[in-house]
Amino acid sequence: MIEVRRSGELAPSVDRAAGWPTPHFFSSFTSTGDTPMAKSSTEKPAKQTTTTPLTVTAETHHARGFGVKGYFENYDSLSGITMADPFQRAGDRTDVFVRFSTVAGNKGSMDLARDVRGFAVKFYTREGNWDLVGNNMPVFFIQVTMKFPDLVHSVKQEPDREFPQAQSAHDNFWDFISLTPEAMHMITWTMSDQAIPRSFRFMEGFGVHTFRFVNADSKSTYVKFHWKPMLGMQSVVWNEAVKINGADPDFHRRDMRNAVTSGDAPAWELSVQLFDDDFADSFDFDVLDATKLIPEDILPVKPRHRLHQRSAAARSKFLWRANYEPKSWGADGGPREDPDEGFRSYVESVSGDKRRVRPESFADHFSQARQFFSSQTPVEQAHIVDALVFELSKVQTPRIRERVVAQLVNIDTGLAADVATGLGMPGAPERIEPAREPIDLDPSPALSILLSGPDSFEGRRLGVLVTNGADAKTLRSMRAAVTNVGAQMAHIAPTISGVVDSDGNELAVDEEIDGGPSVLFDAVALVLSADGADAHVHCKFVGLGPNAEVLLLAAGLDDSRRDAGYVDVGSTQKSSAAFVDALAALR
Ligand code: HEM
Repeated sequence: MIEVRRSGELAPSVDRAAGWPTPHFFSSFTSTGDTPMAKSSTEKPAKQTTTTPLTVTAETHHARGFGVKGYFENYDSLSGITMADPFQRAGDRTDVFVRFSTVAGNKGSMDLARDVRGFAVKFYTREGNWDLVGNNMPVFFIQVTMKFPDLVHSVKQEPDREFPQAQSAHDNFWDFISLTPEAMHMITWTMSDQAIPRSFRFMEGFGVHTFRFVNADSKSTYVKFHWKPMLGMQSVVWNEAVKINGADPDFHRRDMRNAVTSGDAPAWELSVQLFDDDFADSFDFDVLDATKLIPEDILPVKPRHRLHQRSAAARSKFLWRANYEPKSWGADGGPREDPDEGFRSYVESVSGDKRRVRPESFADHFSQARQFFSSQTPVEQAHIVDALVFELSKVQTPRIRERVVAQLVNIDTGLAADVATGLGMPGAPERIEPAREPIDLDPSPALSILLSGPDSFEGRRLGVLVTNGADAKTLRSMRAAVTNVGAQMAHIAPTISGVVDSDGNELAVDEEIDGGPSVLFDAVALVLSADGADAHVHCKFVGLGPNAEVLLLAAGLDDSRRDAGYVDVGSTQKSSAAFVDALAALR
């Protein structure tokens, strides 16, 4: 039988560091009346003081981030639903600052870690600053705020050895996860390609929580926030992520800076899912449960606003001496709180007893994890299996591996069996009894990156391997076709000092061949080049210019080893445009 520790079972309940029995902190206070999860604002700070604090800023969660300035523009007004300033008038613009981040790694870690990405937007509204803190995944690991310090401590480097960092592939993380079944939905996301995005520009953002909009009549409407990238979604594959981290640990921040400084600043559309209490009550789960999403197929998202970036900023300067309130610095001796103009909570009646219990509406931990897995294409499902096998093979304690696989059975028996096989576990995986039996929900295509991919090559980068004598006409028409769809083209050459094309023009070189491996590009083309082999291995599209045939044969890539990704590129504008059209697809 797979051993699962429940409160007080199989383990002493007295924490040796704190010296007292571990309290039942894993449920928030709730009322037994109609209002679920009425949270107490004092409980989390109390819990945090009983656990080891992460005091070094460079080592806290979301330590590694990159910021961009831009503006937010309303398509239409939501003034009937909310009083919030940025949504009042169609066409209004509000300045914003967006910080993208990874969660687990320290400040100097690499960008392509398998991780959730932070997507935090600060609106400089006419009423003051408003933070819409989001992630690139619509759900979260835990249902109860109180578990947060444990989640973060489990994923950060193990305290007795300070590694691994920027990796969830270790015993402590999977130990915590295997004992926290509510996390399994989020695990299907973090083990999917969503956790290794091609760049910040190709990922979605979600407010995760269910918020309230409140209008001038104090009427409340529930709202979930979705940011959709105008470029579509794209990820890299794990094999690329590993190599990108070595070749360019700053890949994501460099990509964003390149895009913004070259005038191709990315944009997202903000969509809101709006609903009332009756709609909320129509679900078996609680809309306040952060491990759940409302599928777009049930409540479609409609873009209402646009976020546009215009400049990149890696660091900020501290302009203020103090970040507490009340304070007496400054000419006015302030600022001080303002009960009238400042933030006001929505007023609601709460009845019943105040208790630390988890409501029954939070008991289904697997149905949406199942839905996420069944919504993926077979390739994406195979990536999830590979990711789990990789992560769990770094776990040295067999019973932790077994517990995770036993949780996976509740998501998909095939998934559990494939992971078990990958880990060399004998026999059919056992199952851990779930708190509530999961049900099968309809697949939601919006949950698949491959089904929501870009429809053109816009925003992506073609690396062209060039040597002295590269055909000038081919290069010219290729650049025109790439620029025409809003993409970028870079020259890769045997040396960084430049090459001379067939017309005698000097070409600036962006990357020397070893510094610019094919993994750093979305597609590659060979115009008088030698080595197409690496691009072949990484499933890139490969454009074949004049003479490339000879070189491919020399690299052992005869016809039998080439698929539809190898495209002949003639020297005309028309053939270059056809090549760039082919690049729109994801491979
Ligand atoms: C459930 C309990 C949660 C707690 C207690 C919590 C706590 C925190 C804290 C203390 C920080 C600041 C870290 C620092 O700078 O030292 C932080 C940052 C952040 N959190 Fe959470 N968090 C929670 C859930 C979430 C969720 C659900 C999301 C997604 C919407 C999220 C997204 C972020 C992001 C994006 C940042 C970085 C913001 C930035 O770029 O400055 N967190 N969180």
